[in-house]
Amino acid sequence: MSIPTSSNTLKAGLGIVGFGTVGQGVWKHLAATKKNMENRLGVKIELIGVCVRNPDRQREVRIPRTAIHTDPCKLVDDPRVNIVCELMGGTTLAREVTLRALRLGKVVVSANKALVCEHGAEIFKTVSKCGGQYFFEASVAGGIPIIKSLREGLVANRFSEIAGIINGTCNYLLTRMEKEGLSYETVLKDARRLGYVEADESLDLDGVDAYHKAVILAFLAHGKWVPRKNTLVEGIRAVTLEDIQRALDFGYRIKHVAVIRRDFAKGHMTLGVYPALIPLDKVLARVDGVYNGISLTGDVVGTTTLVGRGAGQDATASAVIGDIVDAIRTLKGAAFKFLTRTDLDFYTALGQTMRMATPDEIQSQFYLRFSLRDESGVSAEVYRILAEEKISVARVIQYEHAGTRRGTHTLSTYPVSEASMERALRKLRKLRTVLETPLVLRILSPEN
Ligand code: HSE
Repeated sequence: MSIPTSSNTLKAGLGIVGFGTVGQGVWKHLAATKKNMENRLGVKIELIGVCVRNPDRQREVRIPRTAIHTDPCKLVDDPRVNIVCELMGGTTLAREVTLRALRLGKVVVSANKALVCEHGAEIFKTVSKCGGQYFFEASVAGGIPIIKSLREGLVANRFSEIAGIINGTCNYLLTRMEKEGLSYETVLKDARRLGYVEADESLDLDGVDAYHKAVILAFLAHGKWVPRKNTLVEGIRAVTLEDIQRALDFGYRIKHVAVIRRDFAKGHMTLGVYPALIPLDKVLARVDGVYNGISLTGDVVGTTTLVGRGAGQDATASAVIGDIVDAIRTLKGAAFKFLTRTDLDFYTALGQTMRMATPDEIQSQFYLRFSLRDESGVSAEVYRILAEEKISVARVIQYEHAGTRRGTHTLSTYPVSEASMERALRKLRKLRTVLETPLVLRILSPEN
């Protein structure tokens, strides 16, 4: 599909499916800059319609009643619509709408991370077959142009590590816990009140949202759609205020991160999403609140870190509008063409050069927190188990709890395999003198 001309004016017709916070933000900001955009692109931008579940709901942004639809297929099929913005979320109807538009050769712009993660392979194939285009910058890290960076600006690189804070809600919760000394439950209540937490809270709190985003980054960097069974996905529910303070005592800040590593020599990669300790002097350790930050280490560029607002109406609208502009350029035949057959062949070949690493092959530095009964020899038992698994301890701090006959032990290790740590933990859990399930967190040290 290309842009139709009428009375010598090129027209880009927009259909927005899903007119919630993001959809309204997109139209609000686009309407404000429309004249400039139109002059710059030489195209008239028209909002043909929006599609919503409840047309009678009061909205921040007013749209003529005749432009409000309830059937997404009708809007997608409208021949005046050549750019479909899928901002509805979910993976069932959103998938149908997306594939329908692409099969009609239209350009689709999306903010839907779960959809790209779960159905990206099918969507991308449809693009290459039907000749439309699919843009999804807003699906990862809100206003940070990470997808464009991977696809375009950093295309010269092979990435040994991509590590980032890509869930703003977890970052907000951990930041407030640390800065204000508040409990997880107290801060979570505030986050709910401010509308930061997804309707399905587990997406944020159990790391699923970050996993969706990490899978998208891993595909763009390494050509592999990483299945959930090959990843470690942990949220932040087990992190206590005490852990945050203990980590600071060690010189680290706890952040919820996604880490994608690739070992070129051994031909394997890993993808994990978990709370990690980051040295205080690293950029990511200073990315606070709802902000996101992503550190990419490429073989040509070195380490580059991008920081910005990862969620919210305005940051997301900024990414979607960037994609709409790319969509218009695509329709004019003036854009870099992404997801062509050669592009997909490239990703497939890249993905085939490597497998997922096994727990024996994944090396991490760990932080451990456990409570021990106050008896002589209890620490020696713990160290015996660590020694059996060849785990070398880097630092130890022990805190006594006056009058309780128990103490909290925290320690960090040198790099050791995930498999060794798992075996050590199984043994530690069986010790009569270990009073609660030990907490294990990984340590992440990006280059900058
Ligand atoms: N729940 C997501 C986050 C929203 O907190 O990052 C933006 O994708």
